[in-house]
Amino acid sequence: MANEIERRRTFAIISHPDAGKTTLTEKFLLFGGQIQVAGAVKSNKIRKTATSDWMDIEKQRGISVSTSVMEFDYKDYKVNILDTPGHQDFAEDTYRTLTAVDSAIIVVDSAKGVETQTRKLMSVCRMRNTPVIIFINKMDREGRDPFDLLDELEDELEIKVRPLSWPINQGVKFKGVYNIYENKLDLFTPDKQRVTEKVEVDINSEELDKHVGEQDAGKLREDLELVEGVYPEFNVEDYRKGMVAPVFFGSALNNFGVQELLNCFVEIAPSPRPTKAVERIVEPEEKKFTGFIFKITANIDPNHRSCIAFCKVCSGKFERNKPYLHVRMGKTVRFSSPTQFMAQRKSTIEEAYPGDIVGLPDNGIFKIGDTLTDGEQLHFRGLPSFSPEMFKYIENDDPMKSKQLNKGIDQLMDEGVAQMFINQFNGRKIIGTVGQLQFEVIQYRLENEYNAKCRWEPVHLYKACWIESDDEEELENFKKRKYQYMAKDKDGRDVFLADSGYVLSMAQEDFKNIKFHFTSEF
Ligand code: G4P
Repeated sequence: MANEIERRRTFAIISHPDAGKTTLTEKFLLFGGQIQVAGAVKSNKIRKTATSDWMDIEKQRGISVSTSVMEFDYKDYKVNILDTPGHQDFAEDTYRTLTAVDSAIIVVDSAKGVETQTRKLMSVCRMRNTPVIIFINKMDREGRDPFDLLDELEDELEIKVRPLSWPINQGVKFKGVYNIYENKLDLFTPDKQRVTEKVEVDINSEELDKHVGEQDAGKLREDLELVEGVYPEFNVEDYRKGMVAPVFFGSALNNFGVQELLNCFVEIAPSPRPTKAVERIVEPEEKKFTGFIFKITANIDPNHRSCIAFCKVCSGKFERNKPYLHVRMGKTVRFSSPTQFMAQRKSTIEEAYPGDIVGLPDNGIFKIGDTLTDGEQLHFRGLPSFSPEMFKYIENDDPMKSKQLNKGIDQLMDEGVAQMFINQFNGRKIIGTVGQLQFEVIQYRLENEYNAKCRWEPVHLYKACWIESDDEEELENFKKRKYQYMAKDKDGRDVFLADSGYVLSMAQEDFKNIKFHFTSEF
């Protein structure tokens, strides 16, 4: 058991769209022997050019099951990559997936540096002290100065960085990277399929000049001296605590610097970590099984609810057909066909260990965040909702189908497609999302899966804030004063719907004893 836990690496690759996440994932799968040629993994992203093309969404739904988790063996390690949606309108999905990983790799485009989505994803990692490795991609293109990039990463992602490789030029003059971690020189030959040449060269030897030319060798020595001077020595423990992020340079498309990244990753990335539950901290080595649901896929067959709930095993061994406690429902459940995911297949499994993701057939019994145990009353925490960025009233567009509509909305919210708030003043339902596309998905799925019609009506809101205070009187006062803007979330908690940044800061000013949170977990 200890050995099985120790060899597992469960992580996500995250990036701003287009930085190269899909390409890097695919290269990892090549090394893991899961696929034989590049190009075999379909991109899971919805093309930006066709924001509301339903075919694309359907395609995404179709393939999202098989590519949600990709597992492979590499050296002695069992690697689980949790996929995250490529489109930023589904960012909420990504945030939740990050609660199920033990570490993350962030891909950054060398020309673009830190982008909005990178910033947000990193803030989620920071909340949970998730260790991150940064891969600066597209070095074969003209990009920014590496030192400037590192400064930007530190400033914008609020984490110390430590380069473990260093590029020799970039763009057309890109010659390779010096691998500081392994003390090797990797020479670059643009090639999408083959792994490039590696030579062991002492940084001070003349051989280096032979390989990259005198001028570039000189520059590399200078750069590395500066790196050693500026950045403290790499410390694995600091990385595992989420205090420092090692940085690699390369080109995913050319399969360059990818294996070095993977090698270092499996060595330094943490094996499954303890998980916080409301009642106690759960250690992976514990004998009894515990796990939580962090993702539910869309209905595949519109005729009956047939979803797959993704369960992260937190402790003990999960076994097929064994009775487990579904804590929220207080019911015993058994799974006769739990699945495991390979690059493009899934198969039934007999058992799974901490760090693994098990797919459980779900006919409507699961909600995001549900806990499964071997009998213990336990509630895992750590599936925060973030304040949505867009809000709309949802209205029934077919009076004969109000039951179907309500059921559909409830189930879609359980799946975590979006967030619903009920306005306490007028009782209307407000749906909050991260992007426009989610509204379209909801409308489409309500029609196709629940035979219900909805209509969106505008509501002008800026942010949803979860409020709390030790001062009951002030809290009541606030709720009275803002009664038109008070709502309840899915768990019945008080949420203040601020209609502008100004109103929000005035409220914060006037009600000093009230805390305004932008995530549901605080
Ligand atoms: P994403 O999942 O993060 O959204 O990014 P993805 O891997 O799909 O890559 C986005 C684009 O960047 C793709 O080009 C991909 O080929 C390109 N790319 C990825 N890595 C590198 C690299 O190291 N160097 C260069 N020069 N390009 C890279 P595309 O034209 O949008 O798509 P495609 O038609 O090539 O699939």
